[in-house]
Amino acid sequence: MSIPFFPPDLFDGDLLLEVVEEVGLAPDQRFILGTRTAEFEAVLRDALGVADAVACGSGTGALTLALRAMGVGPGDEVIVPAYGCAPLASAPLVLGATPVFADVDPWTVVVDPAEVDKLVTERTKVIMPAHVFSVMADMPALRRIATGAGVRLLEDSAVGQGGVLAGRAAGTWGDAGVFSFVQVKTFGMPGEGGMVVTGDPALAREVRMLRNHGQDGVHRFVHHRVGFNSRFDEVMAAFQLRRFATLPDRLARRAAIGEYYTSRFADLAGRGVLAPPPGRDGRCFYVYSLLADRRDALRDHLAGRGIGSHVYYPAPLPRQPAFARHARPDRDWPAAASAARRQLAIPIHPHLTDAQVERIADEVCRFAATSGAHG
Ligand SMILES: Cc1ncc(COP(=O)(O)O)c(C=O)c1O
Repeated sequence: MSIPFFPPDLFDGDLLLEVVEEVGLAPDQRFILGTRTAEFEAVLRDALGVADAVACGSGTGALTLALRAMGVGPGDEVIVPAYGCAPLASAPLVLGATPVFADVDPWTVVVDPAEVDKLVTERTKVIMPAHVFSVMADMPALRRIATGAGVRLLEDSAVGQGGVLAGRAAGTWGDAGVFSFVQVKTFGMPGEGGMVVTGDPALAREVRMLRNHGQDGVHRFVHHRVGFNSRFDEVMAAFQLRRFATLPDRLARRAAIGEYYTSRFADLAGRGVLAPPPGRDGRCFYVYSLLADRRDALRDHLAGRGIGSHVYYPAPLPRQPAFARHARPDRDWPAAASAARRQLAIPIHPHLTDAQVERIADEVCRFAATSGAHG
């Protein structure tokens, strides 16, 4: 019996059909930015205790709008992790700003605050860390650096929804935080969408205008800003509203699977397979990711036993063809390069049975036991 990396039954099809019918047949015929989107925003805003939440067309859109609302433009620098998702580099670039790549922690693979601190200049406008796979960025340290430097902090929590660090929810550590709802995320849905959450009402107002061509929501066809089309879909809002109450159960299942893996893999570090740090504080369970010296051999071993796995980000961002010419030629990102060579994610989706989780853990342990100390 094979265990796919992504579950074959991600969403409840009946619920999806129900909301398509509900929105599709509603007399107002409103398919974007309607009452359901407003309700979805209010639900997340209240659950997180922030001043406002603004739904956008995607996580990438949310990042871009938040940066723009923070005043980022040509000549500005945005400090971003050297390892992670493409929008960390492309969101500053499409606004004419320069991404400045900071190396990551070699174990947790989130951006290293000491590296960020070294890169702050008079041109720095925003520090934009991201949570990665199973671990939240060191937000208290990054908050201190941003405050000390007098720059804004944008928390890319696209993968972090549901994580908590020192009692504070992922997404609420920065001047603004961003979520993504693309299907595989912890609160994923069958479509594109994202959210900016913030304690700053003026910033939220700006994002609201920017997401809909610079209009203020009162006067149609009056464009106060050069904006974007990054609007939220009413069918998806209705879908998310119906699933919000059960999100904690799905998060708890992911967390339990992650904790089980970490306990099983605790002794494998000397055998070339490194698991994320133990504990729940500062963890998020979007993806469970290992660092394996013989990554491709581990992937093949699992595939041979019908277990799906996934390699994310096979190159550091500043080594990508699109971004390399924007990176300082005299710099190097050794921890990001090592993560890119060694990272392998194994299944963690909440539909996995205990028996499947145990089988996956058994196979990782079996691989490590047979591959010797250094493979
Ligand atoms: C860290 C990070 N930031 C931003 C994004 C962009 O989100 P979206 O795919 O919704 O545009 C993603 C994932 O897709 C991500 O992993």
